Amino acid sequence: MKINKLVMATNNKNKLREVREIFSPLGIEVISQKDAGADTNPEENGSTFSENAYIKAKTLYDVVKLPVIADDSGLCVDFLEGRPSIHSARYAPEGQECEKILEEMKDAPDSQRTAKFVCVIAFIDENGNSEFISGECSGKIGYEKKGLNGFGYDPIFMCGEKSFAEISSDDKNKISHRAKALKGLYELLKERYCD
Ligand code: IMP
Repeated sequence: MKINKLVMATNNKNKLREVREIFSPLGIEVISQKDAGADTNPEENGSTFSENAYIKAKTLYDVVKLPVIADDSGLCVDFLEGRPSIHSARYAPEGQECEKILEEMKDAPDSQRTAKFVCVIAFIDENGNSEFISGECSGKIGYEKKGLNGFGYDPIFMCGEKSFAEISSDDKNKISHRAKALKGLYELLKERYCD
């Protein structure tokens, strides 16, 4: 069995470009849900990254009946008992998410500033069977915003000496939680459909 088309539950051009580049060597074309004629936007009311990724993937699969992928990601801060986690996107008014975390972390000593970005991808194959692939990137919450690249929590997420907003998107795409999950998916698809 071979797949040549994968529909992604997003219309985000940056995500699509990243995913397309990864899968083109396998001869798999990745298309947006819009290009597949679907306009799904389900309520993400799961309690884990996997549940939310599955909700998005399954809703799309039910419409297009083709292999689909959906991802869900967020930041988990140890000092905040894992928050904001699945609530990362709406944790604070847009553009103020970093300030909110910095305020909540103002009493956290260096040793307790560990955090990780998590990404889970749900893949549903041509028969409706699902698989989950996750990726994590560990780092620390800084003491102030640094850098102008990226989005969301990038300016306060320190990966070594630099924040995610201080490195190029090419470099981030080599080490990020999303890149790791996508690499896992690449291996799965290669083994299953292309070897
Ligand atoms: P989504 O699941 O990709 O929509 O991401 C959910 C939220 O998690 C985003 O709105 C961001 O706030 C946060 N997030 C996920 N990945 C990243 C990242 O690579 N950098 C910064 N913030 C991120």
